[in-house]
Amino acid sequence: MTPTRLPSPADAADARVLADAVAEYDGVAALSEATLLNLEGGNAHHVLRRDAHDRLVGYAQVHPDGVAELCVAPDMRRRGLGSALLEKASRVGARALWAHGNLPAAQGFAARHDLAVVRELHRMVRDLSPEDGHDPQLPDDVEVISFADDPDLSALAALNAAAFAGHPEQGRLTVEDLRARMAQPWFDPEGLIVLRDRTLVDRPWAAFHWTKAEAPVAVLGGEVYVVGVHPAYQGRGLGRPLTALGTAYLTRLGARSVHLYVDGDNHAALRTYARLGFGIERTDVLLALPARA
Ligand SMILES: CC(C)(COP(=O)(O)OP(=O)(O)OC[C@H]1O[C@@H](n2cnc3c(N)ncnc32)[C@H](O)[C@@H]1OP(=O)(O)O)[C@@H](O)C(=O)NCCC(=O)NCCS
Repeated sequence: MTPTRLPSPADAADARVLADAVAEYDGVAALSEATLLNLEGGNAHHVLRRDAHDRLVGYAQVHPDGVAELCVAPDMRRRGLGSALLEKASRVGARALWAHGNLPAAQGFAARHDLAVVRELHRMVRDLSPEDGHDPQLPDDVEVISFADDPDLSALAALNAAAFAGHPEQGRLTVEDLRARMAQPWFDPEGLIVLRDRTLVDRPWAAFHWTKAEAPVAVLGGEVYVVGVHPAYQGRGLGRPLTALGTAYLTRLGARSVHLYVDGDNHAALRTYARLGFGIERTDVLLALPARA
């Protein structure tokens, strides 16, 4: 169970199989999109635990910022594997651990290891009806394009960094990080909606709504993946129509529900989404490890 920096393609494939089995059993995915992407490259630490038959039964990943995720095969739990993975993970820099869904096992595990909740991330959801498929009215000074019309990665990275300055993960995404997401099978450039300021000659990008629709969208629903408004355009009421533009697009693709993730302390966003009909479906928690002696 020696931590490695880059798993072999076979290890990466086994980690995906384990992640699928865990998600199926628990009803919630233990490994996030960023963690799954790191199986293909990046700078994370990986801890793999195999059984006597060489089956991968436990996996932990520690991101460069010390945030980790770990999971144990459902039939191998309560034998100390999770604790052993946590110990190795903390030795390669893990400072906090995501518990997606904050399930009873994770709560027991957290209590056993003195892990304390330091962040909450709510998954909010709402149903879509055919009326949601109509585009909303927008202010006259903005125009709508999609990333397919102008696939300018640098403009997107700059807008994202400005909109999410101060956000722990989203604000740091580089052109390369965006490119990796766009290489995923779900990426649809038409579903990345951009608002441009039509009153200025160079038509700067003011805001964007990146939607995500994984197949089959009628079953899985659509996602408000990222909504970002440049600080110069915040406070003008763009958030609501921008969100509705994306949900309209997802409705036309066949989604019957739409979900999104929002931080527990982002009261403004929570209020906005509640007013748009979203309700909290589940909450993920980030658990801090106790300081090492
Ligand atoms: C949480 C998880 C990693 C625990 O793995 P594990 O190998 O079963 O953990 P361990 O055997 O090392 O358990 C250590 C202690 O945690 C607590 N614990 C673990 N599972 C528990 C459960 N279902 N209910 C209550 N307490 C539990 C117990 O105190 C346990 O000690 P004990 O078995 O001597 O009573 C595993 O259930 C899992 O993969 N869950 C899904 C992914 C997840 O939630 N990851 C985030 C973890 S914070």
